[in-house]
Amino acid sequence: MRSMFSLIVNGERHKVDATPDTPLLWVLRDQLGMNAVKYGCGQGLCGACSVLLDGESVRACQLPVSEIGGRRIVTLTGMTDTIATHLKAAWIELDVPQCGYCQSGQLVSAQALLRRIPKPSDSDIDIAMSGNLCRCGTYQRIRAAIHLAAKRLGGGP
Ligand code: FES
Ligand code: FES
Repeated sequence: MRSMFSLIVNGERHKVDATPDTPLLWVLRDQLGMNAVKYGCGQGLCGACSVLLDGESVRACQLPVSEIGGRRIVTLTGMTDTIATHLKAAWIELDVPQCGYCQSGQLVSAQALLRRIPKPSDSDIDIAMSGNLCRCGTYQRIRAAIHLAAKRLGGGP
């Protein structure tokens, strides 16, 4: 049965009408038009649909809308703080994307990582980013861009 849910997305409250088991991904894309959140596998395996939930990177395709409650959702579009600004600049400077499809999710997970670990090691990056797959194999550039952003934020080597 459909119900109304109140979601806080990118700092704004939205009311959506959905069945309780509707994945957040479809609410964001189909009801709120937030297409920066990508559909990849739909099974929690690729990370293309990553969003921040209270600052943690989660898979929107696996999160029923009824389980979100008052937690704050942030998509790539809503990432505007200093960390995000430096990450996006590093991504551009190092030409990270190839086809680009996975990159929204990559940036979301990188943001969650730098909030938690301002000066991540290669291994911290590999662990934090392991749920975000890139069929184009941009992993080395992603790692370099995270180090560059961390450095400019005062945390990197
Ligand atoms: S679409 Fe959600 S993890 Fe792949
Ligand atoms: S840049 Fe193409 S899948 Fe990652």
